[in-house]
Amino acid sequence: MKEDLPIGIFDSGIGGLTVLRAIRRHLPRESLLYLGDTARVPYGTRSRDTVIRYSLGVASQLVEHGIKMLVVACNTASTHALEALRRAASPLGIPVLGVIEPGVDRAIQATRNGHVAVIGTEGTIRGARYQRLLMERRPGIRVSAVACPLFVALAEEGWLEGTVPDLVANRYLQPLRDGPDTVILGCTHYPLLKGAISRALPGVELVDSADAMAVVVERELSHLELARPSPDPPKTSYLVTDSPRRFETVGSRFLDQLPSPVELVDVTPMASSQGSAIIFQRNGP
Ligand code: DGL
Repeated sequence: MKEDLPIGIFDSGIGGLTVLRAIRRHLPRESLLYLGDTARVPYGTRSRDTVIRYSLGVASQLVEHGIKMLVVACNTASTHALEALRRAASPLGIPVLGVIEPGVDRAIQATRNGHVAVIGTEGTIRGARYQRLLMERRPGIRVSAVACPLFVALAEEGWLEGTVPDLVANRYLQPLRDGPDTVILGCTHYPLLKGAISRALPGVELVDSADAMAVVVERELSHLELARPSPDPPKTSYLVTDSPRRFETVGSRFLDQLPSPVELVDVTPMASSQGSAIIFQRNGP
């Protein structure tokens, strides 16, 4: 039965585990299949066309494994590739959800002074999907945006507290002091640095798009009647495109437990064993 299939969650690497963790907390009965494109991370510094191509390849692999819904946990991929993924997945009847809309809606609800900031990778800030949606959904809103690329490296190194993250956060976020009252954490890795970010921006509300995403996944599953009915324990498994051991070590920081089992996969089109992936790619942009 389709409802018994896992929810596919995709990220450029390890950071999307923050989204998986939030979904698991909200939907403990659902099986989850995570794919981290660890061979090609980071997406945040790449061009739009490359992010679209990579995203279609990764999503094809998840489709081949069998999923009932695709969650694009990566903010950079949600910025550049959401339309292409939706076009490719729609003939297969697979809904595709990105992290940006849920974060935007929550920020609009949270702001009291009508000034919201988004922080993310260079690609997310340059692609401006957050900024556009905020202005579309709340005309007249003031929007600021800052790219904070070093946050990704700090989160992966586990440097979450102390002088270094505080210095980096102060430097990046200084332009946001005395402005926005709400900041969207528009990158998978940033929830881990909430402490340093709040110290740099005291009193500012931080919107965690991972949490907001989980609420939307729950709503869409019930709306589409795709919630898993089985009383058997759900399964969570992980696919990576490189270095499964590193994924386990660094991933446990994001998940508070060892991500396991982890399987190595190849997402290049030539590696596709079945037609579905190729069809998926052809349906792309
Ligand atoms: N997952 C990416 C994002 O949320 C961050 C890491 C990367 O640059 O690939 O934008």
